[in-house]
Amino acid sequence: MKKGCVVCYVAAIILVTTLLQTCSVTAFFADAVPQPFVSPGHGFPGFNSMRHRNILRDEVTARLKELGNVSDSKDVLQRTFLSPAALAAGRLLAVWMKDAGLRTWEDELGNVHGRSDGANATAPALLLGSHMDTVIDAGRYDGALGIVTAIAAVKVLKVEGKLHQFPRPIEIIAFSDEEGIRFQTTFLGSSAVAGTFQPKHLKNVDARGISIGAALRAASHLGTTESVSSLKYNPASVWGYVELHIEQGPVLEAHGLPLGVVEAIAGQTRLTVRVHGSQGHAGTVPMSMRKDPMIAAAQSIVSIENICTHPEKGVGGSRGATAMSTAVNHAGAIVCTVGEIHSWPGASNVIPGEVMFTIDVRSKDDSDRETNVVRIEGGIHKICRKRGVRCSIERKHEANAIACAPGLNDRLHAAAQAAMKELPPFRNNVSALDDGGFTAPTLVSGAGHDAMAMASLTQVGMLFLRCTGGVSHSPAEHVQDDDIWAGSLALLHFMEGVLGDLSR
Ligand SMILES: *[C@@H]1O[C@H](CO)[C@@H](O)[C@H](O)[C@H]1NC(C)=O
Ligand SMILES: *[C@@H]1O[C@H](CO)[C@@H](O)[C@H](O)[C@H]1NC(C)=O
Ligand SMILES: *[C@@H]1O[C@H](CO)[C@@H](O)[C@H](O)[C@H]1NC(C)=O
Ligand SMILES: [Zn+2]
Repeated sequence: MKKGCVVCYVAAIILVTTLLQTCSVTAFFADAVPQPFVSPGHGFPGFNSMRHRNILRDEVTARLKELGNVSDSKDVLQRTFLSPAALAAGRLLAVWMKDAGLRTWEDELGNVHGRSDGANATAPALLLGSHMDTVIDAGRYDGALGIVTAIAAVKVLKVEGKLHQFPRPIEIIAFSDEEGIRFQTTFLGSSAVAGTFQPKHLKNVDARGISIGAALRAASHLGTTESVSSLKYNPASVWGYVELHIEQGPVLEAHGLPLGVVEAIAGQTRLTVRVHGSQGHAGTVPMSMRKDPMIAAAQSIVSIENICTHPEKGVGGSRGATAMSTAVNHAGAIVCTVGEIHSWPGASNVIPGEVMFTIDVRSKDDSDRETNVVRIEGGIHKICRKRGVRCSIERKHEANAIACAPGLNDRLHAAAQAAMKELPPFRNNVSALDDGGFTAPTLVSGAGHDAMAMASLTQVGMLFLRCTGGVSHSPAEHVQDDDIWAGSLALLHFMEGVLGDLSR
């Protein structure tokens, strides 16, 4: 790379940026930017790093701030399904989708769509998206990041004049409900598009007694079984679904890299355990004569930690995500949490009569999960027998793991790698980069995402973005501006890869 080129390039960028600020220069912009960019290697930080920084980084971060202000509460960020702020967020996203060259509509479940037909309106579409609802006292990245970065990447295709050459339709979907805060049912938006929405859920009510159907009607939708069922996409009309999301965990930060590729979304089992003992006076019943369910529960909880720290490999035919993972370190293959515990009657001077606690077990391998859930159940029953208390264990929820599509994973790996090469390496793990590594870590998502629902419609792929301290579902949630850039750039590279299919 000659120094002169760098100077020309910087001059061109300054010119373009100035023009962009004063008028709409879409066509000019497309011509003025030299492309494709050849990776200059590590010696030239700053060269390729200029690529559409205004759209892919600065505009995205500004939009995330703006969206983070759209809240139902003036003190904290909160947007629940069909709330006034959620509807306002949808309108804002539609404006940004239009700005990226997409035609937009809101569907019968409040999802906001933006679509471009590309070069072939009838080819199976590439879907991109994430959710626009939030938890209560949320951060501004969870969900919103995946929508806003996708819009930015599509906008770059538009300004470069590539959107109409895209070999298939591109559609961005801002899903109306993923967190399930208002109606205690997750993935309302994406399950409707995927065709797995259960019409009986229309009768679910929120804390004020308003049903999903009534909430939809209040937002000018029909709110009927038919109107919701009609949202199901025909699988033949869809090519795949790709979602970028913050990691919500600490692994990427520990690797020192901004991007990771998700190979699977963990399956989950939720159990409720009830331990019945004999209730009594804390002062009068001798220790040797007690049947205390609290101690049995405590011992059980410690046994769960033990089992999940040293899990056994699942036996038998592997379902779901197992087939593709070979080089897994088996420790860490499963995570187990006891997050809720109640005792009856719950008084400091009473030996409890009953203790209830929950167990949440997750793994990307369904047979590992089943094997260790059975070990957990066996262990609890054994402890209860020994202590002379009665235990019942109920499986409340079971969801299989979702494997991300290997074909999409390969494309996302290449895209993440290309994005990381283009950006200045100052915040990234220099030793990993100097190895010529650049390889984005492969991760398992322990959290559910819209991609999980979309997997019953089409192949799915996911990118994770590093977030500070792994913190999420909190106003302290944070993603560095340059990491956001890496994320939207990776989505752009991914789409350019698909664009390249045309010429193959
Ligand atoms: C968000 O709201 C705060 C407080 O009202 C305001 O100061 C800030 O300018 C707003 N930011 C954006 C990007 O709208
Ligand atoms: C458009 O896509 C459809 C469906 O994949 C295909 O049958 C058709 O040949 C394509 N048309 C063109 C012009 O490539
Ligand atoms: C950086 O990457 C190297 C090589 O992949 C790895 O061994 C090391 O743990 C990483 N260190 C940090 C701080 O990220
Ligand atoms: Zn999320």
